[in-house]
Amino acid sequence: MKNFDYLVLGSGIAGLTFALKVAPRGRVAIVTKKDRAESNTNYAQGGIASVTSQADSFESHVRDTLAAGGGLCRESVVRTIVEEGPARIAELIARGMKFSESEAPGADGLRQLDLGREGGHSERRILHAKDVTGREIESALLAAVAAQPNIEIFEDHLAIDLITCQKLGYVGTNRCLGAYVFEKKTGRVEIFSAPATVLATGGCGKVYLYTTNPDIATGDGVAMAYRAGASIANMEFVQFHPTCLYHPKAKSFLISEAVRGEGGILKSLAGREFMDGAHAMKSLAPRDVVARAIDSEMKKTGADCVLLDITHKPAAFLIERFPNIYETCLRYGIDITREPIPVVPAAHYQCGGVVTTVDGETDIPGLFAVGEVACTGLHGANRLASNSLLEALVCAHRAADQLLSHPLPPGDWTIPAWQSGQATNADELVVVSHNWDEIRRLMWDYVGIVRTNKRLQRAQKRIANLQEEIHEYYWNFIVTGDLLELRNIATVAELIVACALQRHESRGLNYNLDFPGANPAWAQRDTVLRRLNS
Ligand code: FAD
Ligand code: SIN
Repeated sequence: MKNFDYLVLGSGIAGLTFALKVAPRGRVAIVTKKDRAESNTNYAQGGIASVTSQADSFESHVRDTLAAGGGLCRESVVRTIVEEGPARIAELIARGMKFSESEAPGADGLRQLDLGREGGHSERRILHAKDVTGREIESALLAAVAAQPNIEIFEDHLAIDLITCQKLGYVGTNRCLGAYVFEKKTGRVEIFSAPATVLATGGCGKVYLYTTNPDIATGDGVAMAYRAGASIANMEFVQFHPTCLYHPKAKSFLISEAVRGEGGILKSLAGREFMDGAHAMKSLAPRDVVARAIDSEMKKTGADCVLLDITHKPAAFLIERFPNIYETCLRYGIDITREPIPVVPAAHYQCGGVVTTVDGETDIPGLFAVGEVACTGLHGANRLASNSLLEALVCAHRAADQLLSHPLPPGDWTIPAWQSGQATNADELVVVSHNWDEIRRLMWDYVGIVRTNKRLQRAQKRIANLQEEIHEYYWNFIVTGDLLELRNIATVAELIVACALQRHESRGLNYNLDFPGANPAWAQRDTVLRRLNS
């Protein structure tokens, strides 16, 4: 058993930011399931939305966030996150983060941060490091963590389940005591205990066949929190990014919205600018609108993809502004300075998640959730571009502040060792990989950008069958990383479908042909799920 003052699950922007804030006051374990840098954060391209220029205002950022969120954002949360953004950005810069600067000096003659533009933003307000913002943030934060003797990182350690008093059968108030963690190299399951456990496990893009997310994004945090009895909300709002590179050999490569922010135009394969009639902001409309327009264009024409054309911009500008996109596309034989980029929508971001306050508190004492895993109310029915890194920074800071000002006393509960099945059967491993594929394909086909009740019900039935199989497998065999993640994607798929079936309307990212309009009775109503008998 390993005891710490703080247990952080995940090493993306949310987990690292939290750990750095609390480290001066206690011992921190960061448990992370692969290499420490492997996270959605590491692949973020566009940047962080925050008000840093004189021409911009908090009011405008709040307005854009609320508009994108389709009437479902919690306005007080939006204001807090928007208004606290600049202070958190300043801290990130102080930790060594280098944002791109503009060529032209400001009115005071000094270099200014370069501000990008993305869909749904009425101002240029995206701070970025060329098109590799996430990689730069992750390495700045990891360097700061390396200098902190109080933080220990456990790589290749996959959290299986949260440990709560209730699950252990203790009567009285429930409380989170830590987590069971699977060490991939040895196959052992260890107990990590701490008065405060922080879920910073990111999103669930891998629930879908096509996604911009790396392999770590299997919704583990939401699944663990649900099994522990925490409230989960708004899982129907899965954001599909409109522009993922379409190439048989490219796995999950995003073409940043910043490309459209700099003038990129969406076209059909025949060259028609199909966003003209779809929205006043044309190719720079909010993501839900653009993804649906592309989906409709592909279905109408039978095409496998659409085109994103930025060839009208000078080549030198494109190479300087988007070096990663330029070089990656070139490796696949596409020169973005001379030809349009083939793109398709792909699952990108989980707007719902574990219900939390803006301070990261869940409804289980001792359990916090920050970053993409959490549902604070910032994003509503559709996240505004580049608001997620901002949310992670602000909420991780607030969760740390909350715990530093109200420390949780250590407990003295006895935690039993992990029990698992004993059998191994290599022949049966095919079942695990088959079920992985089946879930991801059925979610893509039945629970995608455009939904119907019939398809959702079909998905629900199949997921229930698959869960029975996974359950049996889970209790009989020795656990593996693939099996643990399979159990989680099945749970998250179940939650997405259950939320989508509850919402009898189309709003933001949940578009259902059986309920084509927004229903005022559902305005400001979250779809909340909580497991009984957890
Ligand atoms: P992550 O960064 O995903 O970190 C999750 C961590 O948890 C990882 O370390 C993972 O290994 C670990 N983990 C997961 N499960 C377990 C487990 N069971 N046990 C142990 N560890 C676990 N947002 C923006 O605001 N601006 C952008 O420009 C932008 N671009 C993006 C581009 C891409 C390609 C992608 C995929 C996302 C982008 N996003 C962007 C979204 C944004 O990157 C994420 O929402 C954000 O980084 C999430 O941070 P996080 O710390 O919550 O989670
Ligand atoms: C992008 O660069 O297009 C991603 C931005 C985001 O997801 O916020």
